Amino acid sequence: MHQSLNYIALALLLAVPQTLAHTSRATAAGYTLKNSYEGETFFDGFTFFIYDDPTAGAVNYVDKATAFSKGLAGYDSGTPYIQFDNWSQLSATGDGKRDSVRIQSDDSWNGGVLTFDVAQMPYGLGTWPAFWTNGPDWPNGGELDIIEGINNDTYNHVTIHTYDGCTQSGTAAAIGEYSSETHDCSGFTPTNSGCGFEDPNPNSYGEGLNNGGGGVFATEWDVDAGTLKTWFFPRLLIPQDILNNSPNPQNWGQPVSHFVSDSCDLSTFTNHSIILNTTLCGYYAGNNFPNGGLEACNEFIRDPSNLPNNKWVVNSIRVYE
Ligand SMILES: *[C@@H]1O[C@H](CO)[C@@H](O)[C@H](O)[C@H]1NC(C)=O
Ligand SMILES: *[C@@H]1O[C@H](CO)[C@@H](O)[C@H](O)[C@H]1NC(C)=O
Ligand SMILES: *[C@@H]1O[C@H](CO)[C@@H](O)[C@H](O)[C@H]1NC(C)=O
Ligand SMILES: *[C@@H]1O[C@H](CO)[C@@H](O)[C@H](O)[C@H]1NC(C)=O
Repeated sequence: MHQSLNYIALALLLAVPQTLAHTSRATAAGYTLKNSYEGETFFDGFTFFIYDDPTAGAVNYVDKATAFSKGLAGYDSGTPYIQFDNWSQLSATGDGKRDSVRIQSDDSWNGGVLTFDVAQMPYGLGTWPAFWTNGPDWPNGGELDIIEGINNDTYNHVTIHTYDGCTQSGTAAAIGEYSSETHDCSGFTPTNSGCGFEDPNPNSYGEGLNNGGGGVFATEWDVDAGTLKTWFFPRLLIPQDILNNSPNPQNWGQPVSHFVSDSCDLSTFTNHSIILNTTLCGYYAGNNFPNGGLEACNEFIRDPSNLPNNKWVVNSIRVYE
């Protein structure tokens, strides 16, 4: 996320040798299902985050009981969803926040394949939805934003945020457009913009994604090779090996994003929680709100009819090792 908070120096690790960055341990038989979150047990593996949004978003993250009682989390015919409140009118004199949900996995992830099969996501002016993972001692434990966008974005952004001193040349093969002019992935820079790729496929985000019935976002975190790669598959193009629970990234073609350990040691990524949330306005969506910035955004979101797309609907999240 942009402008996240924690800060501690680490930076003692050396970059792994170039050769290591190009070996791959994954084989067709390599990945087996370790953990899955889906159906009516989906929420069992997650904790509802109930603290203030560190990026000053106009949301109030609620606990599990509140989320279920207010319809902010639940099931559509057995399929889990989370959403923010897009039905209450906010008064001009209130705190200006909407109830929302942020969940994070109890188990941590330390590499392998992660698939996120999503049917529907929030989007539109004022919103900032994200599916992401991050480690302890932010940003030293690393952050990988697998789905992220703001306002009327029509394409997905995949971004890493790292310890200080990490850069990525962005030349590893990928179909996404490398969008980090400074090549500086550190979470410690003033803007904390990280290093990222933009998916050129408009079906990868928001309205395009929802209109296509969603799809699968697959991530391979190859610890031995020191690489992170993500792919997006629209609903009708999901590889059979993913449908069969035996993901084989070697069959998936070029990834959308591709991060390597060269001048940046990605082995610092560790113990990641899997996180799904939506915030409103704040430092990122608010400061980039068209026609008026943060204040205009905060005013805009008081009227629920300005927020016609509030919901994440998740078919499954699966972790393979
Ligand atoms: C999600 O939560 C993180 C951490 O609380 C926060 O920085 C961010 O603004 C929230 N929203 C998104 C889309 O990440
Ligand atoms: C954003 O999208 C909405 C819905 O399509 C549209 O009404 C609005 O004009 C767009 N605003 C901007 C600034 O692009
Ligand atoms: C990761 O988790 C393991 C097991 O809980 C723990 O021993 C280790 O210290 C953690 N690493 C970091 C960097 O927090
Ligand atoms: C809230 O969002 C849902 C879709 O996520 C939509 O069906 C509903 O109409 C929205 N409510 C308003 C007031 O826009």
